[in-house]
Order: sequence, then structure tokens, then C-alpha cells
Amino acid sequence: MLKLSAEERAMLDGGFGAGVRKAMEIIVALGRIYGAEQLVPVSSVQVAGVSYRNLGEAGLEFLRDWAEQGARARVTATLNPAGVDLRAWRELGFSETFARRQAAVVEAYQRLGVRPTCTCTPYLVGNVPRVGEHVAWAESSAVSYANSVLGARTNREGGPSALAAAITGRTAAYGLHLDENRRARLRVSVRSPVCTLSHFGALGHLVGKMARNRVPYFEGLEGCSDTDLKVLGAAMAASGAVALYHVAGVTPEADQPGILAPDHDTLVVEDLAPAYAALNAGSREPALSPVEAIDLVWFGCPHAGLVEIEQVVRLLDGRRVRTALWITTARQVLEQAEAAGLVVAVEACGGRVVADMCVVVAPMQELGFRTVATPSAKGATYIPSHAGLLVRYGTVEQCVEAAVTGVWPD
Ligand code: F3S
Repeated sequence: MLKLSAEERAMLDGGFGAGVRKAMEIIVALGRIYGAEQLVPVSSVQVAGVSYRNLGEAGLEFLRDWAEQGARARVTATLNPAGVDLRAWRELGFSETFARRQAAVVEAYQRLGVRPTCTCTPYLVGNVPRVGEHVAWAESSAVSYANSVLGARTNREGGPSALAAAITGRTAAYGLHLDENRRARLRVSVRSPVCTLSHFGALGHLVGKMARNRVPYFEGLEGCSDTDLKVLGAAMAASGAVALYHVAGVTPEADQPGILAPDHDTLVVEDLAPAYAALNAGSREPALSPVEAIDLVWFGCPHAGLVEIEQVVRLLDGRRVRTALWITTARQVLEQAEAAGLVVAVEACGGRVVADMCVVVAPMQELGFRTVATPSAKGATYIPSHAGLLVRYGTVEQCVEAAVTGVWPD
């Protein structure tokens, strides 16, 4: 039985206005569906559902109406990527019609009090919850990072439920907000070398498929970085429904007593090759031949940090690219990259550091691209079905070579 405080009851009864009432109705409905006993305050929210390509006019009107009803975020609320770079859309080739509708969506979110960060890595731009804090984040890779790497507590929120949490400052206490559901039920013993970002993506792809919605507990990944974990979690969230994992000796909850449930299953991973094969077969046409021309090489899924941009610059080593080369990132990170001289270095080679957007939710076919190469397992999972493009998945090194030569390296 869901119990509400006096303030929560007043929100539900309309005492805080129609916009807040609508938000509280969503939170309470979810709480009842999932058997929550109470609501908990959230310290931050990550809102998804930003691309105009997915929202359309109906979604835009929904946001405007909610803002019209007086709804405003009460807690820090950041925004997921949009469908274009909000400043450089013209240079990248996107249509003015789409760019204007996309800007209108972002404005509607701003009216609702959401910061227009337009990134799936809010933790790189100041939205960094502490261990044990309840938050309500949407966007599966960000959810995985918040739960696993930061030790915060969130379910995989949808767009409306995350926005409702921002407006009420509450979420229903079920799922990963509760200790019991944070215990691992799949022990993963990693016996294959996992030493590059695409290996972490490949591992995540395999484990996500096996784990489905169980919490994995990894052994054998000691010494991995936050960037490795970002990529691992994104891949598991895409191939399965993993929203939390633990890594022995690394993540904040991994060494808590009893974190590995006594009835856990065990998975041994000795070979990542099946993941590379599966991710390269994910095209709507027969898989690309090894010499197939690549049109676009995409880094930054999830959005790149400075370390990843630096790596691409180092591997390019001043060589000109024959394909389009985009590194997607948060605008704040792009500004840091500019200050560090990295943007100019990428542009000198013919590439672009692109802010605000995600290739998966962008109208990429407007630009005439047909084939994309990426070292992101999440990107490779979604590109064929969401962006309608053929995909090649490989290491960062292979992707840079593809950009320089215009063909996928054998
Ligand atoms: Fe981010 Fe888009 Fe990848 S939202 S995680 S860049 S699919």
C-alpha cells in the first residue's frame, strides 16, 4: 500500500497546480503498479526523449502543455542528446526544418526547468549524484553509470516518468531503489583479455544478452577505468536490460557483504569474438564486405570524454580523413576540448567534434550516409534499426584507419 506524505498528497490533490498534479499522478501510478510502499526524494533527474525525430509535433505539444500548466523541475534536471548539433547543424548538413523543430523541443524543456545539456553523460557536466542518493534517470547508459559506477540509485525511467520526478522531486521506491534488488545474481568470470574500449563493449554485449535483467558481478576486470565502465554498461543496457552491475575491487558496492546473492548463476567469458561477429552482422542488408566503403566513422557513444577525443587525435597523427569523422560529446566537454587544442587537431584532419546530438536519434539518412563504422557496441546495436544504416564494429584503431583509408581494414 503506497503511503504519501502530506506534501505529496497535496501535490496529488492539485494544491501545487495542474502541472504538478499531472506529474504526481504519473509517479503514484508507477508506485502502485510496482508495489512501492513510499515515495523517496530524488536529488537529480536525467530526462530522455529529446529528438524531434522521435517526439514529433505531438510530443512537442505535450511538453508545451505541461509547461503551460506551471510545471517546473524542483531538482537538478539535465537533458539527453538531441537529433542535431544545435549550433553546427547547417555545416553538418541537417535541414533547417528539422533543426528548428529540434530547437523548439529543447526550448520547451528549458521552460520546464530542465538544463539543456543535451548529453547522455550528465556525470561529465556536473550532474554527479553521490553514493546511495536516489535519483530518477532515463537513458540506459546513464542509468547504468549512475547505479554502478557512482553508486546512486535509479530505475530505468522513461521520458515522462523522469520528467514527472523532476517536477515533483520524488520517485516511487521500488526496483533498484531497494537494497535487495541491488544484489548480483550472475557472477561473470572474465578470462579473456579485455584491454581496449571495444573489448569492453564486446564483453558488455555478450553479458547483457545472458544477464537480461539480472545484476552481473564481474571478476577479472581490476584496474579498468571509468571510461571502460561507461562503455561496458552502455553495451549491456543495449543488448540486455542491465541497469546495474558490480565489478570486484572497482565499483562502490562490489565489496559489500552479501552483494553476491547465494543463488547466483555463473558465466565464464573466454572469447569475445562472437560479440564482434554479432555486432558486425547487425545490418538490414547482408554484412558489409571487408573492403566496403565507409561513409561515416562515429566515436562518442556514449558521449566522449576528453580522454577518448585525445585517443582519436593521437591515432589520426595528423592524417587527413577520407570519410566523415564525427566525435559526439557534451557541449561543455567540447569547450574543454577546444581549450586543450583537440578540436582544432581533429578539424585539421577533416573530422568534427560534434555537440548536443546522438547519431542514433538523428535523421542521418537526410545526409546521404549509408555505412557507419564505430567502436561503440551500443551504437552498433542500434544504428541499423534506428538510423537505417549499415554498420561496422571494431576497435578505435580500426575505426581511425577506416576514416583515413575510406574502407574497413581487413
Ligand atoms: Fe548516447 Fe546515443 Fe549512444 S544517447 S549512449 S550517443 S546511442
